[in-house]
Order: sequence, then structure tokens, then C-alpha cells
Amino acid sequence: MRVLVITGAGVSAESGIPTFRGEDGYWRNFSAAKLATPEAFERDPKLVWEWYSERRQRISNARPNAGHEAIAKLARQADEFLLVTQNVDDLHARARLANEAMVQIHGNIFVTRCSCCDFSYEGRGGSPEPPVRLSKGGRLRSIAPTSAQNEDIPRCPECAALMRPGVVWFGERLPWSELQRVENYLDRGTCDLVIVAGTTATFGYIIDWALRASRCGGELIEVNPEETPISQFATQLVREPAAIALPRMVDAIVSFSHR
Ligand code: OAD
Repeated sequence: MRVLVITGAGVSAESGIPTFRGEDGYWRNFSAAKLATPEAFERDPKLVWEWYSERRQRISNARPNAGHEAIAKLARQADEFLLVTQNVDDLHARARLANEAMVQIHGNIFVTRCSCCDFSYEGRGGSPEPPVRLSKGGRLRSIAPTSAQNEDIPRCPECAALMRPGVVWFGERLPWSELQRVENYLDRGTCDLVIVAGTTATFGYIIDWALRASRCGGELIEVNPEETPISQFATQLVREPAAIALPRMVDAIVSFSHR
């Protein structure tokens, strides 16, 4: 069985991570969908970092739910498997889904990267603490911020630009290497089973990947309490929370394939 699973914020909702849209998509009265933009960072980097720091903290304290566990179980069962997640949290990984089986197409919240050059680092801290680095000459290089307004925001030790979260913001290009991994998987063949769970599927590429993967008669199952642009193409609609529906679906698939 060849499987593609696509997930969005709804899959982590039951772990207590707020989604982007809908009722819980607000933080201090700011819309999450508007904070996750290059424009918001340009206007107020401190505010955007505060939001991401809180999100990092919340994710660190959260646990994978039964939906994450079910997807990892399906991966172990399938002959070929890829998860494409729009989630920047690490809950799929903490449910023991291997890195090779997963593409985080919108990046990783625990990565901090330079807003100008390629410098980046990964760390689980709640705030964007920069690592202490030696400059090329072997001397400690200051990464102290220069403006009082942005004094809590680290600057790049290579080029002194502001550091930012290692996530893809609305309107930004997808990371090339991760995009290639998805394209390679789709080019190698269509899927018997495609599950799209917990996403509003706002982006055309999400719909495109789901349709391409299922185009030769594969099942396209949507797991979402609400209707989305994917719904009209689905061969099966499961209008339930992911943490309830996915374990049941995966158990049924596993017991069927053991017959
Ligand atoms: P959204 O917040 O747009 O949508 C969450 C979806 O999950 C909605 O369709 C809900 O109906 C559904 N949902 C809520 N609770 C659920 C549950 N318990 N089980 C299953 N489904 C549930 O999140 P995404 O679609 O992931 O991108 O958003 C996509 C992207 O938009 C994000 O990755 C982010 C944002 O802009 C960028 O920042 C580039």
C-alpha cells in the first residue's frame, strides 16, 4: 500500500495547539493568520517573536495525541509512506514518525534563522536564544541587538540582520529541498490511499498534491469536522475530530491488511 497523508493545524488542536483560523486563531486579539506574515515581522518583529516564543513554549509542553500516534502507526504499516504536514510543531516526530517519512512543508518552529543570509540553528528554548559562536578569526563575536526597540531579538552572527523563526510565512516560497521531496514521492507513483486531515486546504499546492496522488483511483479521505475545498473531491468524508477518527481508520486498515 502506497500512502500520502497531509495534515494541518486541526491535527494538533487536540494537543492544545491553537489553529490559525476559526475561533482559537487569535492571540492578544491579533489574528494568527496575520501574525504569520513577513509584513507583520517587518512592522513589529518583537510582537511576532513574542507570539512564536509562546507557541514554542506551548508546543514543548504539549503531547502528541491519538491522531499523531495513528499516523505513525499507518507509516509503519504502509509499503511506501509520506506525511506532508503544514504544522511547524514537532508532535508528529514525537509520536515516533521518522524524519524520512515526513516533510514539514512550512518549516520547523524550533529553528531560528537569519532574515537575510543562510545562518540558522535549532533549539527548543521558548525565546530565540542565539548560540555563542566564534567568528572566523576565533574571537567571540557580539550578537547583541543594536536597537532598543528590538533589544530582545537576536541578530545574526554572520551578517547582523534580525533572526526570525524558521517557518514559512504566508506569501513566502516553500523550502526547495522539502518541495523536491514531495515532488519526488508523487513522481514515483500514485497512491492507494490519501488522507487529508485537519486543514482548511487554503493553499493550491495542498489540493494539487492530494489530487495528483489519488488520481488513478486511490481513496481520498478527508478528516475534518468542517467542509473545505478538498471535500468536493474526497471519496470519503469523515466529519469527526482527527484524534477520534484517525485511530479507528488506521486500526481498520491494519486489521484488513493482516487478513
Ligand atoms: P487552519 O487553522 O486554517 O485550519 C484548521 C482546520 O482544522 C480547519 O479546517 C478545522 O475545521 C480543522 N479542525 C479543527 N479541529 C480539528 C480536529 N480536532 N480534527 C480535525 N480537524 C480539525 O490550519 P491549516 O489548514 O493547517 O501557514 O493552515 C494552513 C496554513 O495557514 C498554516 O500552516 C499557516 C497558515 O497561514 C503559513 O504560515 C504559511
